[in-house]
Formats: sequence, C-alpha cells, structure tokens
Amino acid sequence: MIYVLNHKANLVYEEIIEYLDKLNNIELKNVIFAPSACYLPYFRGLKLACQNISPFVEGAHTGDICASQFASIGVNYALIGHSERRNQDESNSDILTNKLRQAFTNDINPIYCVGELEENDNIFAFLEEELKVLLTFNNEYLKKAIIAYEPVWSIGSGKVAKNERIEQAICFIKKFFLDNLKIDIKVLYGGSVNSLNINNLKKIPNIDGFLLGSISLNIEELKQVIN
Ligand code: PGA
Repeated sequence: MIYVLNHKANLVYEEIIEYLDKLNNIELKNVIFAPSACYLPYFRGLKLACQNISPFVEGAHTGDICASQFASIGVNYALIGHSERRNQDESNSDILTNKLRQAFTNDINPIYCVGELEENDNIFAFLEEELKVLLTFNNEYLKKAIIAYEPVWSIGSGKVAKNERIEQAICFIKKFFLDNLKIDIKVLYGGSVNSLNINNLKKIPNIDGFLLGSISLNIEELKQVIN
C-alpha cells in the first residue's frame, strides 16, 4: 500500500519540527510526504511530493515553483489536478497538460487526482473526461503516474465513499489504462480516510493505497492508518 500525506496549507515551523521528531520508529517505506513547499527540505531523505507545480519551465512567473527546482531538492512526486487546485488555476486542460509535461520531463511522478464533484454525479463521465488529458503523453511517461480517485464531495467532509463505489471507480481507471495504453496503473483512494474507516477501506480488492489529508497532520492517528 502507498500512503500520500497531503498537509495542504497547515503547520507552522515549530509544528513541523515536532512532527518530524514524532516520525521516529514509524515504517515510512511506502509513505510519500506532501508538506507545504517551504518545508520540503526538512523532509530530506524521505519520499517527497509537491502539492502543486508550475506549468512553466522557469523564468518570470512570480510565486510559481518549477519542476526542475523541486527535482533539484529531491522531490520525486507531484500532486496534479487536486480539486482544491482545480478550483483555482487548474480549471483548464492546457494548464493541467503543461503541469503534467513539466513533471514528466523532470523525472517527477505525477499523482493525478480525479473524481466526481457531487455524490449523485455520474462518476464514469467525470473520470473519462479527466483521464483524457493524459492521453497526449507517451507510455514511457505515463507508466510513472499514479492516479488518486478522490470524489470531491468526500474531501474534508467526513463522508467517505462506499467500498463498492470506490472499487468500481478504480476498476474503470485501471481498465482505461490497460485498454488505451497497456499500462497496469496504481490507483489510490482519497477523501475523509481516518483510523475508524481505514480497515474497511483496505478490504477493497483492487486498491493500491490512500491519499490522506487531515489525518496526515495527526501522527498518533496516522500511525493507526499506515501500520
Ligand atoms: P481529507 O483530504 O483526507 O482531509 O478528506 C484528502 C485530500 O484532500 O487529498
């Protein structure tokens, strides 16, 4: 199982130092940390993801951080298409495509987030549309991607999707990659995962791991989820 820990815009410096102290004695082989960009160097030696990436190569883009910059400090993964970014600057597929291109060409593996907006939306229509963006890339690149199925209605809401629904979504995504690209892709679930629902979610037969938001901030509860 892979666990991606998305801290979002949380924790100040002192809290990060405390957080790192508490990581001793936890098995972190399959854990990817996505702290705020300013703290990434403190996590050196661990598997790292950036929460966002610039669509540009480099240059006059104030506030952006480019893929080559992340790669140069040991970042190997990037969250791309997270719904909290799609709401802001990733609403158009050109931007998403450029972010994906920057990641791929700098040896950063995208963790590409997909999922329907509302509970009663047609999941497969959303997934099909969001996955299409990937088809402009070649297999060599796409093999390195991880997909995170994150129903937007479930993120931060305390409402976790039902196992059958997650299983169907993962099946659809895996089939999309196998049929179109002959790639056996890894698919994670994200959305209100916690220590109370994790054991049930781990029963989903085709799941490869989890994208954890709020729970990633609480080491004690996190231990119960990732161990
Ligand atoms: P949550 O966030 O676990 O707090 O729902 C998940 C995410 O945003 O990736």
